[in-house]
Amino acid sequence: MNPPSMSPVSIHHTLFLLLFLIPRPSLAQANIPVPSSLTATNGNSSSWLSPSRDFAFGFRSLSNGDTKKNQLFLLAIWYNKIPSKTIVWFPSEGLPAPPVPENSKVELTNSGLVLINPQGEELWKPGNVSGTVSHAVFNDTGNFVILDSSSEVLWQSFDNPWDTLLPSQVLGKGKSLSSRQSEESFSRGRFQLRMLDTGDLVLNTINLPSDYANEAYYNSTATDDSSNGSTPGKELVFNSSGSLFVSKENGERLYLSQRDISPASDSYHRVTLNFDGVLIQYKHPKNSGSNGSWEPLWSQPEDICAKVTVRDGIGVCGYNSICTLGENNRPKCNCPEKFTLLDPSDKYGSCRPNFTQSCADDQERTKLGPMEDLYGFEELTNTDWPTSDYALLQPFGENDCRNSCLHDCMCAVAVWRDGRSCWKKKLPLSNGKIVPTLDGKAMIKVPKRDFPPTDFPLQEPKARYKDPKTLVLVGSVLLGSSVFVNFVLFGACMVFFLIYRKQLKKVSTKGTVVETNLRHFTYQELFRATNGFMEEIGSGAFGIVYKGVISNNVAVAVKKLTSMMRDKEKEFRTEVNVIGQTHHKNLVRLLGFCDEGQERLLVYEFLSNGSLSDHLFAGDPKLKTPWNLRCQIVLGVARGLMYLHDECPKQIIHCDIKPQNILLDNNCVAKISDFGMAKLLMMNQSHTMTNIRGTRGYCAPEWFRNLPITVKVDVYSFGVLLLEIISCRSCWGSESSGEEREIEALTDWAYDCFTEGRLDALVEGDAQALRDTEKLKNLVMVAFWCIQEEPSLRPTMRKVTQMLDGAVGVPDPPCPFPFSSCNTTIVP
Ligand SMILES: *[C@@H]1O[C@H](CO)[C@@H](O)[C@H](O)[C@H]1NC(C)=O
Ligand SMILES: *[C@@H]1O[C@H](CO)[C@@H](O)[C@H](O)[C@H]1NC(C)=O
Ligand SMILES: *[C@@H]1O[C@H](CO)[C@@H](O)[C@H](O)[C@H]1NC(C)=O
Ligand SMILES: *[C@@H]1O[C@H](CO)[C@@H](O)[C@H](O)[C@H]1NC(C)=O
Ligand SMILES: *[C@@H]1O[C@H](CO)[C@@H](O)[C@H](O)[C@H]1NC(C)=O
Ligand SMILES: *[C@@H]1O[C@H](CO)[C@@H](O)[C@H](O)[C@H]1NC(C)=O
Ligand SMILES: *[C@@H]1O[C@H](CO)[C@@H](O)[C@H](O)[C@H]1NC(C)=O
Ligand SMILES: *[C@@H]1O[C@H](CO)[C@@H](O)[C@H](O)[C@H]1NC(C)=O
Repeated sequence: MNPPSMSPVSIHHTLFLLLFLIPRPSLAQANIPVPSSLTATNGNSSSWLSPSRDFAFGFRSLSNGDTKKNQLFLLAIWYNKIPSKTIVWFPSEGLPAPPVPENSKVELTNSGLVLINPQGEELWKPGNVSGTVSHAVFNDTGNFVILDSSSEVLWQSFDNPWDTLLPSQVLGKGKSLSSRQSEESFSRGRFQLRMLDTGDLVLNTINLPSDYANEAYYNSTATDDSSNGSTPGKELVFNSSGSLFVSKENGERLYLSQRDISPASDSYHRVTLNFDGVLIQYKHPKNSGSNGSWEPLWSQPEDICAKVTVRDGIGVCGYNSICTLGENNRPKCNCPEKFTLLDPSDKYGSCRPNFTQSCADDQERTKLGPMEDLYGFEELTNTDWPTSDYALLQPFGENDCRNSCLHDCMCAVAVWRDGRSCWKKKLPLSNGKIVPTLDGKAMIKVPKRDFPPTDFPLQEPKARYKDPKTLVLVGSVLLGSSVFVNFVLFGACMVFFLIYRKQLKKVSTKGTVVETNLRHFTYQELFRATNGFMEEIGSGAFGIVYKGVISNNVAVAVKKLTSMMRDKEKEFRTEVNVIGQTHHKNLVRLLGFCDEGQERLLVYEFLSNGSLSDHLFAGDPKLKTPWNLRCQIVLGVARGLMYLHDECPKQIIHCDIKPQNILLDNNCVAKISDFGMAKLLMMNQSHTMTNIRGTRGYCAPEWFRNLPITVKVDVYSFGVLLLEIISCRSCWGSESSGEEREIEALTDWAYDCFTEGRLDALVEGDAQALRDTEKLKNLVMVAFWCIQEEPSLRPTMRKVTQMLDGAVGVPDPPCPFPFSSCNTTIVP
């Protein structure tokens, strides 16, 4: 039969026959018509199969030990015929879609694919489907393709991979793979494989939750030893026979895995970026019954422990952990003796010492005996934490090295190597690894016996907090005045005391009966409110802030905290309630929160005018915030801080006062944000005290000196902020030269201006400020009181507010930096 002459009837006939010849399920399931849907249910979980039944697309139940009641499902593509049912794709596009509850649905409609919960609310859809969908095809390659009526591809899973590539898939420039957080957790991990625009294929870590990419630990271009190594790459190709190569601009190939690979017809192949950062190509025999397993064919890097050293973030293992190479080039992480996992379920996470040691502790402990009796050393051959040292002593013998660390209260570990070098290191230790070429050892300082714990409190008991200077003043007034005045004063004190006691009582009852109007949101509500966490408006150590809209068109800022330890729900609620009980004109209002599963979110009022840093350092002198407004902002911040320290039901130390954390409302009223975060961060598994100590440039010397952390750290930061507001200069110096020296510059320079009587230089000739000299000089002097190195010299925020108000005079401040040279003569 000649095809062109075939009649319509015979075509119909042939098609009809074909329908019978091809097994029905495959044909029906490979072409998915519009509309179609799948439901997430237990047992008979529905899925669509590729024609060969090799791959399935649908819902997978996640068995993470949860009770059957809260069973969650993941929309995914997986190998259908092998026992391990390995998952190769799940919805991502930026961030992974969350696991969904039972009876959620995925629907294919005219407008594309959409994942909805049992209430019919949309949870996820592919970001970029434009056009009218006619049908979808589930290819035998494992690619799920959405097509329009002219068979144009509108969207395909191969363009949006998460951690796995399949044969015939290509990774173009600008595209990347991300690791999962762990084998079982499908949230975003910290390793990436990226095909850069420059044509380099690299592996790197990122500093979650930001995208900041650290130095690459694998770079295809650097391994390219062909004479044409300079030709840039174009894309990473995983061809249908299982060969993996970088295809270059000039058509040449840089082979990554072997060229001869067992035929794709006998084996499944995949390339996966594992959660521990190792990129592996695997194969699995197709027809092996229940015996087969994934066999690694190729992997990079060869020694991940040696290759990954992250200066500005976490390495392969968490803090204080040690990386060793296990099977198949996969890393293993171990805590040293006397250290335990922070989160016992995360073997790759940080370790914490099960003892305390600090300079304050040591001062107490010297009463118990000589250092030699108190501390010993655990030795680990050829072990190093290469990024945690603070001192190099050489030439030094082993015993000198040990003694030096023993008597140095800052020293946590000494690494002695090459027979002469002694590196002293502090906690937290990072990038721990075995280095065979070290020719030395690590000596970890550990207590020889158990000491009672002496954690320093972040929240001081309120009643104990007294300003010694006030007491001295009262005393001297009493001594120096007449009996009658004394009598009157005594009476006044009694009245004051009674009122104070009453207030204390009120406070304590308020503290126990937690009564707030905080709204409890579900994760889905916030997911919708923020349009799937679309619009990012800020980020910090705690996580990322997104803009959103809740009911009644109220704009909100939703703060998504980095994941917390699982068993900290009660503590989280306690702290959220503390924040929720604050009510002050100069504080950003907390509206509600969400604590569902691992997710922790806070919902705040949205302030349209941005942060103080946007206004202060705008650059254009014409846009400079006027002097009067600046004075008003200063007073607002001071009042907000005074409330946090002194007046709210439970004292809150902010720990991170800086212009980025001062927001302005429509009327340019300053509102402090992020208060209460320090305690929340402490709860978080991935944070230690050192992460919390605010922001460089604004943090008080106590943070570095192991002194108790009190409200005075905020007073210090406020002082730096005050100088910034006066001068409209960042303590970081100009944008272009963010050198560490510049941080000192603002305070030093301001003090020089002050002592030389050149306040005009400080405000850069701001006419309005110069007309207001008295006020200007007052503000500057208050700032120098606040940034005194000695915490007890700094005033309380109440005193600061009074000085700013003009209610009390401002005495001449002493030099704030007694340890550096100060010009003490002040020009009047
Ligand atoms: C699965 O479906 C089959 C046929 O529809 C039914 O016989 C079976 O009971 C179902 N199993 C479960 C666990 O629902
Ligand atoms: C959306 O799809 C078009 C066409 O496929 C593509 O050119 C564009 O880059 C895509 N945009 C995003 C944000 O992925
Ligand atoms: C499905 O895969 C085959 C090769 O296996 C390819 O020729 C075809 O174009 C693919 N279909 C779609 C819709 O991508
Ligand atoms: C990768 O290596 C090449 C050659 O050594 C180098 O030019 C390039 O900058 C490297 N890329 C990255 C991201 O490190
Ligand atoms: C290098 O590239 C040039 C031009 O692209 C080509 O003529 C030459 O054969 C290449 N050399 C090798 C060893 O591939
Ligand atoms: C994949 O690449 C290998 C190595 O170059 C080659 O032998 C094989 O024919 C390629 N397969 C396909 C389908 O192009
Ligand atoms: C699986 O392994 C067992 C023992 O190792 C062997 O007896 C059996 O034949 C294997 N089955 C297949 C299908 O290879
Ligand atoms: C610390 O761990 C050691 C064993 O590693 C144990 O003997 C000791 O009791 C622990 N101390 C504390 C305070 O938990």
